[in-house]
Amino acid sequence: MKVNQLLKQENWSVEELAYLIGLTDEADCEALYKAAYAVKERYIGRYAYFRGLIEFSNVCIKDCLYCGIRKGNEKAERFCMEREDILHMAQWAYDHRYGSVTLQSGERTDEPFISFVEGLLRDIKKIGDGSLGITLCVGEQTEETYRRFFEAGAHRYLLRIETSNPTLYSTIHPQNSLHSWQTRVDCLYRLRRAGFQVGTGIMSGLPGQTALDLAKDIIFFRDLDVDMIGMGPYVVHHDTPLGKLVEEKGLNTKEEQWKRLRLGLNMIAATRLALKDVNIAVTTALQALHPRGREWGLRAGGNILMPILTVPEHKKKYLLYQNKPSMESTEMEIRDMLVADVERAGDTVGFGKWGDSPHFSRQK
Ligand code: 5AD
Repeated sequence: MKVNQLLKQENWSVEELAYLIGLTDEADCEALYKAAYAVKERYIGRYAYFRGLIEFSNVCIKDCLYCGIRKGNEKAERFCMEREDILHMAQWAYDHRYGSVTLQSGERTDEPFISFVEGLLRDIKKIGDGSLGITLCVGEQTEETYRRFFEAGAHRYLLRIETSNPTLYSTIHPQNSLHSWQTRVDCLYRLRRAGFQVGTGIMSGLPGQTALDLAKDIIFFRDLDVDMIGMGPYVVHHDTPLGKLVEEKGLNTKEEQWKRLRLGLNMIAATRLALKDVNIAVTTALQALHPRGREWGLRAGGNILMPILTVPEHKKKYLLYQNKPSMESTEMEIRDMLVADVERAGDTVGFGKWGDSPHFSRQK
């Protein structure tokens, strides 16, 4: 009863959002997803947009305690994709009418890396006369670097805050200036000033994280007035300090994974309800926890999918967490699987369109 009452509202307090995020009863969750889907239908339409994901390098200067490509993981085999291979993938995306590509890599701040990315952006912009949208995801940089990337043709940038709670942030990162919560927040403002459509997001189901933390994450997104959200459940990687801890505590059982999946879906739905017209990605991590994870993410209010384009040779090395799906599949098979997910959810793929967030367009 209480849930149905709550879902009739247009705005929610942080406590109410926490209550919705914490729902576990099957029927309650279904009601939550249905309400969120109705908001998506009203503000975005029944569309899902593709961003071809090119994970071009796993070399990283950071040491985040949860991440499989952290600097300290000596088992991770490092790679940098060749410029020609990246361009080939971007061309593939264009030829198959993906509206946009997302370029993602580990974090580096050295000049050779920055000029490599800059050159890449310029080359990708030449494909189809600039018709391919570009989202960039290469971490914390100076404002000048962000401006160079924007100049070169990227127009969206995704930088997850991971959690809006600085204390929780400090438990999942090393304690040094390279891993400062405040710097990450500053970067989000730098990106906005540089002209980007800005996206951020979090991981749900982190050890020590509460439903209230997650509700406050949504308030953080709202206060920052972001255009896009990319978030997903935390998934264990066993060669990381956090992954080991979670396994030791017996918190990586099927049941716990199910809880993290549920939380990931509830977060998508609660964010859709609260923020209405932003783009919300249905991330690969959802599918790592369940084969139908992405379809459910669309039903819970997500509208962006990121089919992986990374060449097979490197895909297995870009391992942020375990059970990364579609390891053996070709780009075409991945495309077909995602189209099927979209159709099962009752949506249509917005082929050939950028699919910018209505939130961003409305601000202009
Ligand atoms: N589980 C889920 N998401 C992860 N990320 C990194 N490691 C993990 C993990 N073990 C996410 C972070 C980062 C994004 C690129 O991947 O949120 O910002």
